[in-house]
Amino acid sequence: MKTIFFFLLCSDLTYAASNDTICTGGFKLINNKCWKLFTDPGNHTVAERTCTSYGGTLFMAKNAILSGFPNAGTGRCVYYSIPGSPSGQWLNGDCTRELPYVCELPPTQSDICDLNFNNNCYFKFDALPFSEAQEQCQQMCGNLVSIHSAEENRFITSIYSHLSYEFIRIGGLASSSNFIVWTDGSIMDYTNLETFGGSGNCLWLSLTTTTTVSYGAWYTRDCDSPGHFLCKRPVGALNCRGTPSPPTPPPVPLPTPTCTTGTHMAPGVLSSPNFPSSYNKQCQYTLATYGSNRIRFTFSYMSVYNYIKLYDGDSTDSPLIYSYSGSTGTYVHTYTSTGNTMFIDFYNSASSTYNGFNSTFYSIF
Ligand SMILES: *[C@@H]1O[C@H](CO)[C@@H](O)[C@H](O)[C@H]1NC(C)=O
Ligand SMILES: *[C@@H]1O[C@H](CO)[C@@H](O)[C@H](O)[C@H]1NC(C)=O
Ligand SMILES: *[C@@H]1O[C@H](CO)[C@@H](O)[C@H](O)[C@H]1NC(C)=O
Repeated sequence: MKTIFFFLLCSDLTYAASNDTICTGGFKLINNKCWKLFTDPGNHTVAERTCTSYGGTLFMAKNAILSGFPNAGTGRCVYYSIPGSPSGQWLNGDCTRELPYVCELPPTQSDICDLNFNNNCYFKFDALPFSEAQEQCQQMCGNLVSIHSAEENRFITSIYSHLSYEFIRIGGLASSSNFIVWTDGSIMDYTNLETFGGSGNCLWLSLTTTTTVSYGAWYTRDCDSPGHFLCKRPVGALNCRGTPSPPTPPPVPLPTPTCTTGTHMAPGVLSSPNFPSSYNKQCQYTLATYGSNRIRFTFSYMSVYNYIKLYDGDSTDSPLIYSYSGSTGTYVHTYTSTGNTMFIDFYNSASSTYNGFNSTFYSIF
């Protein structure tokens, strides 16, 4: 009886301590990291390729580094020693030397999904346009995939390593080379965007290398043509009925805006026509950003004869935030919208020599 009680208590404790944290791919949970030791010696190329096939990171055992690379610091290949004492550090060494090695994956929580990485489940789907792909993902409590680290990017390429797709869709919209909005509302804390521009603003991840694209890098392409895609949801989010779905930013087409037409997408720089020379007519500008983001707008220079008016919305019917006429020269003042649009009405009369305004605007969360 005592023995049985002891056994139950032990297994309970084990469960509580492990907190449902698991390692996938046959990796072992050691000190809150998932490690797999490969005892068959491999050189750097082989070891890296093996780890990458799991979406993992290569670690070379510290002792192996010390015995294998007496001249550490001279080789071309970069190794990371196992964190410990002294803590992990980057070392370089000989690329041809064959050694046992360790791959590391982030631990995750258990879930029914097959593709489980770093507390998220991933699901592969056949080709659809952007909006329909996002809808499909939301039906299973997820979103088109967002990517937040080089490790996650590598894990994703590893999912497709045995398929011959050229590209997959990922869940981002880029409005410039350094601004991406993810459909799941997560912040942009990592980018692998190699080229901005081309036929659209939707992000695609390349699964080939050619003269124009690199394996694993991201590109902007059209939003409408069908592309294979990947959905992502947090582990455990099996039933999302009743919870509001996150806002889906529409794939906004971006024609070049002019004085009165088109939309200026954040982030950007906006000045009156001919600036710093004067422009003696009326100009109206619509500023916008994606989804539920807001706009932070900053005037940096101001010299206006008739008026400049800034509205919190998409027209002169929206609340007026700021109105000015006169010449102030350098003028740094910042305003924030409550929604995802702002509207500017600017007018210099024909006789004016006042030279207009200059401003910058950003998207904030
Ligand atoms: C279990 O996981 C949750 C969520 O990740 C975390 O908040 C909690 O601290 C963990 N508990 C233990 C005992 O590790
Ligand atoms: C690494 O090992 C593989 C397989 O044994 C071999 O083909 C390759 O040439 C080696 N590379 C280096 C840099 O030694
Ligand atoms: C407008 O302001 C931006 C940011 O301060 C600056 O980079 C740009 O050169 C200015 N444009 C003109 C025409 O002065």
